[in-house]
Amino acid sequence: MTKLWGSRFNESANELLERFNASIEFDKNLWEEDIQGSIEHAKMLYAIGLLEVAELDSILAGLQEISKEIREGTFRFTLENEDIHTAIESALSKKIGQVGKKLHTARSRNDQVALDLMLYCRKKSKILQKILSTLMQTLLNIAKEHTQTLMPGMTHLQHAQPISFGYHLVAWCVGFKRDIQRLHASLLINSECPLGSAAMAGTPYKNERENLAQSLGFESASINAMDSVAQRDFALDLLYNIAMIMLHVSRLAEELIIWSSYEFGFVQFSDNFATGSSIMPQKKNPDVAELLRGKCGRAYGNLISLLTTMKSLPFAYNKDMQEDKEAVFDSVQTACICLEILNESLKTLSINKEKMRKMCEVGHLVATDLADFLVQEYHIPFREAHHITGVCVRYAEKGGLDLSKIDVQDLESILLQELGQDIIIDKDKLASALNLEHSMQRRNSLGGCSSDEVKRQIHTLEQWLQDNL
Ligand code: ARG
Repeated sequence: MTKLWGSRFNESANELLERFNASIEFDKNLWEEDIQGSIEHAKMLYAIGLLEVAELDSILAGLQEISKEIREGTFRFTLENEDIHTAIESALSKKIGQVGKKLHTARSRNDQVALDLMLYCRKKSKILQKILSTLMQTLLNIAKEHTQTLMPGMTHLQHAQPISFGYHLVAWCVGFKRDIQRLHASLLINSECPLGSAAMAGTPYKNERENLAQSLGFESASINAMDSVAQRDFALDLLYNIAMIMLHVSRLAEELIIWSSYEFGFVQFSDNFATGSSIMPQKKNPDVAELLRGKCGRAYGNLISLLTTMKSLPFAYNKDMQEDKEAVFDSVQTACICLEILNESLKTLSINKEKMRKMCEVGHLVATDLADFLVQEYHIPFREAHHITGVCVRYAEKGGLDLSKIDVQDLESILLQELGQDIIIDKDKLASALNLEHSMQRRNSLGGCSSDEVKRQIHTLEQWLQDNL
């Protein structure tokens, strides 16, 4: 079979080269975008008088037929066809004869491949936004049930301050909101259509590129033909956006793994989202969460791989750029499945409120509250109050107590010893300061963890979801 570009060659391509050079194995993934681009391109050729109406009709009918065959799995992709652009164009010519050979007027595979991948990235970005918003809503639904559920808030994975489980879920959720916004920003930036740039220098035809851009869902035609075929910024933006999504997924997965251990026991995966061991019959492993955590590595790898491929490439198109597609496909596929399974497994997660509450009673979670109490009630400077509380913690640890159990006499004698002052402590006020629920509810500053404040945050996020999707 003669190649599209074969006429200047005396000898046919080496079979090894054929396998090495071809991208059809993976870029057949772009068949829908390729046909969409060809349909609009053909209409444009008709509009500028390069096709007769009958020729346009015949091209459109041929492309529809090819679509159907690919969708139904009867289309034959072969190595000789090299890539999806060639495969579709030669199938078209086979079907409709000479007219099919007019379709490639005023375009090149260089702008065609840029267009196809850009359409793909734009389509998948919108799908990812949808999946992320579903995940956000799932998190918010669970959060609503747990605005009063106490859990130990941590920094450095050490007990810090009492918070609610709902508050923690909202924290996860806000990261996913930024992921949706990041995708949105990239859609705005990558909204210029490359089709009509041809090989690198434009065409001598009066391509109606602006109309073409609109018909393909872009804001405008790209500014410079050379940049259009030489850049893959849009693919890198998506790879980075996915790397960020997966970073968030991995942190969330890590917490679920920790929380589902015996040591924590905060949550339990439902049986349909857990796995067992082939040797240890008692095991219930969080494989789903571990894979979610592990797949982040791929997303980073794909980003670094394309960044490296693009580095230092001379303008304009280079075949190196064919390496862009597998990275993009893999990241998109990975992110979609990860977000979906995360969403489903969260819905069936059981939450052990009692265990979380119990773990709030160790680790001196109310230490900050005691310091604030000394500041607010007895006007002790914060730095001093911090020091005194530290002494109280040491005292409590020695007695095997949690700081929340320290009594008035102990506190008074520590104050006397540290400040040389007799301070009479109000018993009820101290009890309230050291109460775990009160501690959580007291933090009602904007963005804080009190139940009312978390309800407000949930409302804000739900409103945002409604307004933005
Ligand atoms: N298969 C190629 C790619 O994916 C399409 C563009 C080829 N252009 C060329 N002049 N060889 O990048």
